[in-house]
Amino acid sequence: NEQTFIMIKPDGVARGLVGEVIKRFEQKGYYLRALKMMNVPKELAEEHYVDLSSKPFYKGLVNYIVSGPVVATVWEGKGVVVTGRKLVGATNPLASEPGSIRGDFCIDVGRNVIHGSDAVESAKREIGLWFPEGLADNKPELKWVYES
Ligand code: GTP
Ligand code: MG
Repeated sequence: NEQTFIMIKPDGVARGLVGEVIKRFEQKGYYLRALKMMNVPKELAEEHYVDLSSKPFYKGLVNYIVSGPVVATVWEGKGVVVTGRKLVGATNPLASEPGSIRGDFCIDVGRNVIHGSDAVESAKREIGLWFPEGLADNKPELKWVYES
């Protein structure tokens, strides 16, 4: 089953948006496989965003992610990577559609509240990185969410 890594960034946690994010993924029908609040070691933030290490905003991005506790989660269900990105909204919150998390709750690309994996392969990489201990064995009743 498809999984994605969703992280509520320090601004999202500080602003009390943890419940809002979890609510939106739950009410869609996805189910939670892992959740933890943590302060992020700098090396983990750097590794998570390693693909962006040549960007001018990389240092500021890493400092942002380590600036306070995050809530790291894994969600599971059909199409959760692509649909999760829709729930998250476009990278620049001024371009994110209202109704998406970024569209509803933020303004600045450097304070955009939430991270979502951008592909199935990056989701696998990120889940391994953030949850080396593995995932909870959560298998809910799905007959009200899927036809088969
Ligand atoms: P994530 O879900 O966090 O990975 O965002 P994304 O996939 O929508 O965008 P991307 O992976 O390209 O960038 C990762 C993060 O870097 C973004 O969420 C922003 O927080 C930050 N970022 C991206 N572009 C810029 C930029 O032009 N300026 C600044 N200051 N930050 C940026
Ligand atoms: Mg990204």
